[in-house]
Amino acid sequence: MNILSPSILAADFAILGKQINEVHEAGAQYLHIDVMDGIFVPQISFGMPVITSLRKSSDMFFDVHIMIDRPERYAAEFVDCGADMVTFHLEATEQVVETIGIIRAKGAKVGISIKPGTPVADVVPYLPLVDMVLIMTVEPGYGGQSYIPYCTDKVKEVRRAITEQGLTCDVQVDGGIGTDNLQMVLEAGANMIVAGSAVFKNNITENVTNMLKIMGEK
Ligand code: DX5
Ligand code: ZN
Repeated sequence: MNILSPSILAADFAILGKQINEVHEAGAQYLHIDVMDGIFVPQISFGMPVITSLRKSSDMFFDVHIMIDRPERYAAEFVDCGADMVTFHLEATEQVVETIGIIRAKGAKVGISIKPGTPVADVVPYLPLVDMVLIMTVEPGYGGQSYIPYCTDKVKEVRRAITEQGLTCDVQVDGGIGTDNLQMVLEAGANMIVAGSAVFKNNITENVTNMLKIMGEK
């Protein structure tokens, strides 16, 4: 099954609840929530209080992408405030296995992410321990950037490694994805699609519907 996970970073925060209902009603299965700390990435987005509020008004699957330094410090708290899956960055910690353990112990799914410049080989040893691997297709930190073409080969490479090891991890892509390159990333082996601008710019319902059609989910 292919999953669409709209990134609320591109939403209008003044009417966030309304826009989340709209992506949900249009058929998006997950909600991608980007947490930025101003250290691991240059920008600061939002944190726990926002997720706690959203949890009260939405039963969507919360796919929380934490772009924060030393994620082991906060991983448990993100599950407590409503994350169904927590994805942290391999580059952000020396305690990769410990961080996976913290998230698992809380009963949430675990995602691990690599930036465009990080080789797939670095994440391969952790594949048996995680539910999902996120291949960043832009430099993390901002929405609205252009897809980095060489990342397609990384998606292929990680999918090959998952298959070779007989695993069932999901492969997520995040950054610069829209109707123009969606088919290409699906063919490369991605099955979880994050999209910010491509969902929240102009007509949300139409955007979600068009993307789900390409994904064979509508
Ligand atoms: C970037 C974030 C992305 C971002 C994607 O650091 O992780 O989730 O919101 O935005 P678009 O789809 O606009 O590139
Ligand atoms: Zn993200």
